Parts: sequence; C-alpha cells; structure tokens
Amino acid sequence: MSILIDNIGLLVTHEHGRSERQNAVLVIENNRVAWIGDAGKAPDADERIDAEGRCVIPGFVDSHSHLVFAGDRSAEFEHRMTGQPYAAGGIRTTVAATRAASNAVLTANTGRLVAEMRAQGTTTVEIKSGYGLTTADEARALAIAKTFTSETTYLGAHVVPVEFADNPADYVALVTGDMLDACAPHAKWIDVFCDNGAFDVDQARVILKAGMPRGLGARMHGAQLAPSGAVQLAVELGAASVDHCTYLTDADVDALAHSDTVATLLPGVEFSTRQPYPDARRLLDAGATVALACDCNPGSSYTTSMPFCIAVAVRDMNFSPAEALWSATAGGAAALGRTDIGGLAVGQRADLVILDAPSYVHLAYRPGVPLVHRVISAAH
Ligand code: NIG
Ligand code: FE
Repeated sequence: MSILIDNIGLLVTHEHGRSERQNAVLVIENNRVAWIGDAGKAPDADERIDAEGRCVIPGFVDSHSHLVFAGDRSAEFEHRMTGQPYAAGGIRTTVAATRAASNAVLTANTGRLVAEMRAQGTTTVEIKSGYGLTTADEARALAIAKTFTSETTYLGAHVVPVEFADNPADYVALVTGDMLDACAPHAKWIDVFCDNGAFDVDQARVILKAGMPRGLGARMHGAQLAPSGAVQLAVELGAASVDHCTYLTDADVDALAHSDTVATLLPGVEFSTRQPYPDARRLLDAGATVALACDCNPGSSYTTSMPFCIAVAVRDMNFSPAEALWSATAGGAAALGRTDIGGLAVGQRADLVILDAPSYVHLAYRPGVPLVHRVISAAH
C-alpha cells in the first residue's frame, strides 16, 4: 500500500538536524517514508492526498506520561492556583483511587487519554505505572499500558505508599524484589521519582541498578522540586533521559551537555504548578539534547496536548519554534532511544501530522487552536 502526499507547503523532515523543505511531495510505502522530492518527479502511488499547501511535520513523540490512573485532583489544582505549593504527597490520593478502580475503568481512562493525544498529533507515547504501588497494581498498570504502546515504564518508585511510611527501606526492597519480578516482563524502562518527598539519590541508585540488569533502560524524574544529585545520577548511570529539570545547577547543565542523557522539559508542569519555568537556552546553548513532553497525569500536568506544550515552551522557556518542534519530535525519540520515529527522512516510520497551517510556527503563534488537520501513522 503506497500513499503520495503532494502540495506540501512546508515539510519538516529533520533529516539533517532541523531540516525543512518547501513545496514537497512525500511518498509512503508500507508505513515508511519511501521518497521525498519535488512535484512532477514523484513515483506512482495507490492513493493521493492533496495537502493544499499545508505544513507537514513528524508526529509528536510524547516521551513522558502517567496515563493509567483513576480519579481527579481538580480541587488540588484549584488550591494551587490560590497559592498552595505542589507537593509529591498528592500522588497518594491518585494511588487510592487507582487501587479501587476496575481493570475496565483503568483501560477506558487510558484509552480516552491516548485518543486525546492522537487527535492532537501524538503518534508515539510512553506510559508509566506508578499509581498502584503494590506488586499486583503496578503489574496490572503495565499490562494495561502495554496494550497502547511498546514504550512502557515501571515506576514502582513514584512515592513510598502510606502502608510503608514508617519503613521506606522495606518499600525499596519490594520495588527491587517481587514488584520488579512481576513488572519487568511488561516494561521497557525503569524510572524513579528522585526528589523531596519521594526517593533520595542513594535509593534511586539502588532501584535503577536493580532494573538495569533485567533489561530495563533507566530514566528519571529529577530536579522538579529542588536541585539535587538526581541529574548527576542519571548521567552516571547512562539514563536515556532525566525529566523535569526545573532546577538545574551549572554542573548539571555541563554534565548533560557532555552525555547522551536527554534533558526532558515538561512545560505543562510549571504551567499547572506555578513553579518557575526552566530556561531551555542554558541547555540548548551548552549543547545538551532536549526533549519536550506533556507528563500527562492528574496531579502536576493534566494535559495531553503537545501543541500546548510547544506554545508554552516558546513563550516561557525560550525555545525557538523550530527548536520546540525538534524537541517534541526528534528529541522525544532520542529520549526513548528510537531512530525510526521523530523525523521524516526516507526509511523512517511515516508517522506524520498535516497541520491546518502553512507553518509549524503556528503551533506557538495560535495557542489553544486545534491545528491538526490529519494524522497518519500505523499502530506500533
Ligand atoms: O511527573 N513528579 C512525579 N510524578 C508526576 C506527578 C504525579 C502526581 O502529582 O500525581 C510528575 O509530575
Ligand atoms: Fe512524571
């Protein structure tokens, strides 16, 4: 099955860095980009789509989400908007609601959020566990996540649940023991929330080092609430990504710039918690690889919209529109260790978005406006 898309006003391929071309034609064969060139020279195809001058971009790669949960924390959000700070402890509210929910409710909720993402141009999503915090509840969250994506992450180390409040060491033993045994078969990654009110650097090191020999790639939540050693630990362990990076020291920026660890920024979190936006220029100008993701979860960032995150990143984090688009596509792919997605070079997956706009700049220029004309991607 082949599809030819012609009359593309602006095509973003990311072939070489942030490459783009005007007035292009793109041909898809068997869900891969097979040919890119100028009008008039394209090979025949089974189906033709006229882009009518629109901009075509790679599908968004949302490399950080917590979609398997039940309940709602709008009251907590309302309090934050009148001055209360965000704290890690709110996670326990969602843990209670998630444990009480049936598989059917959790699956339906996850599916609804994945559909929201897709409608806004996301063609790959990573999904974490982390609202079960028992062996059975973490394993079922990952089993549900796996039905929606191959990018599943074991986050038993989200917070210490109430029943272990007096014995955090016993909880770390569970996370690295029976819970890991039950979850590893369903996960590609292991993550730890390493911050005030969650796990410290020593605990995070033990947890990640238990998962890595089991074939799980390391990723981290770090520097969301305060500077800490989390970023240095991520670099030390060769983690694929360290996410949040709200409070970075100069040494953190330097370590990231000289590593393969991606710094993933999550604009929805600062937006929804009123924390200060990190300045992406520090990372970008130092040469670090930067990704953008939604971090969709009911506590700190209940958005599924990568266009919204791009708009905030450009407005408040000092990304250029081209940098923000790269970070939301190729950057996310790098954070997931993937080279088959995040760009539209020949041979890559034909996961793409036709925007109802002549340029991707409109993603930031027209905030809150639904600009996705059509999403093309095979399930994977
Ligand atoms: O990435 N920081 C830790 N975890 C989530 C928030 C979870 C919650 O508040 O429910 C995050 O922001
Ligand atoms: Fe998160």
